Amino acid sequence: MKHVPAELAAFGGAPAFSTPRSVGRPNIGDRAALFARLNAALDRGWLSNGGPLAEEFEQRVAAVAGTRFCVATCNATAGLQLALRASGVTGEVIVPSLTFAATAHAVAWLGLTPVFCDVDPVTGALDPEHARSLIGPRTGAILAVHVWGRPAPVRELEELAADHRLRLFFDAAHAFACTSGGRPIGGGGDGEVFSFHSTKFVNSFEGGALVTDDPELAERARRMRNFGIAEAERVELVGLNAKLNEAAAAMGLTSLDSMDRFIAHNRENYHAYRAGLAGLPGITLLEFDERERNNYQYMIVAVDERRAGFDRDTLLAILASENVLGRAYFSPGCHQMLPYADGTRLPHTERLASQVLALPTGIAVSAADAATIAGIIRVAARQATTPAHAA
Ligand SMILES: Cc1ncc(COP(=O)(O)O)c(C=O)c1O
Repeated sequence: MKHVPAELAAFGGAPAFSTPRSVGRPNIGDRAALFARLNAALDRGWLSNGGPLAEEFEQRVAAVAGTRFCVATCNATAGLQLALRASGVTGEVIVPSLTFAATAHAVAWLGLTPVFCDVDPVTGALDPEHARSLIGPRTGAILAVHVWGRPAPVRELEELAADHRLRLFFDAAHAFACTSGGRPIGGGGDGEVFSFHSTKFVNSFEGGALVTDDPELAERARRMRNFGIAEAERVELVGLNAKLNEAAAAMGLTSLDSMDRFIAHNRENYHAYRAGLAGLPGITLLEFDERERNNYQYMIVAVDERRAGFDRDTLLAILASENVLGRAYFSPGCHQMLPYADGTRLPHTERLASQVLALPTGIAVSAADAATIAGIIRVAARQATTPAHAA
């Protein structure tokens, strides 16, 4: 581990890692099990359209989410669209801005209007009180996000939605296998949508799933996922092709087999980061509530420039020179992205978006790596606050 500022690669020292440690590197499970499943699918000659692997995947995802129904999709973006469309949402949809563009895009792509809501200044979760102030005659739904796998305030949002007879969905792209108040994430609101993109800790190359306890919503989404076809090839609804294919399901099942190991590994990394970053002024690692079940897949640090002596982008650059590839995740907020920017200001979102970054974790990063990365940040912090540097 590096101990003195001069050792930082940014000042001419050697990089801490000879190969990159990056955010979002896929967790690969048991390859033999994956290839066995792929071979079985090839032998069956059944590669898509509700094959046995996709069905098994749906059952296992529903079991983790604690829901009656699971509709697996080709990705979470399509899953969000199916949820909104199948439930007949019209008009405006209240969404947080501190999220990946897909949350807002899923709304806008359906011809609905995303209305951006501010977030809790510490957790980044949708602020129910601000959401309440945005409800108007055209509001059709709230789409909250369990950002970075930390639960949104599910109960408060359920009450708010019930008070105003709004549909409520959760973008749970980050929150598979987590709990909120001891309840599995998945059963909140009218439905929740997971992502199994390659960068997620459980992945199906590309994939997603809408989970719900509502039989009607599940059935409509299921049909819409397959061109709106009901039984016997009868087209009943406007649909799209959002099916999960068998190769993706094979990967998803194989990934699920290793899920507990992935979580345990991420948890060790979290504790290594937490220990390594403890007490650093201006550097705050977003903590997990360990009374809940967490997947620990996002290691988020907020950099307060006034106290740390450097800003988030400087830290990202210092880390990159050490072969540590973090991400400014999420920055900017969606309300300041080109398709949506209309002058709306969201102070908490904007501050967090300017401060947060994701640090590498996952199977490709060891706890020793996490400790080294924390050590680099420590050295950078010491450098930034030495009198010579401050002068
Ligand atoms: C919060 C959030 N919502 C939605 C998505 C979209 O997921 P997918 O890539 O499966 O469409 C992502 C992707 O990372 C995400 O982070």
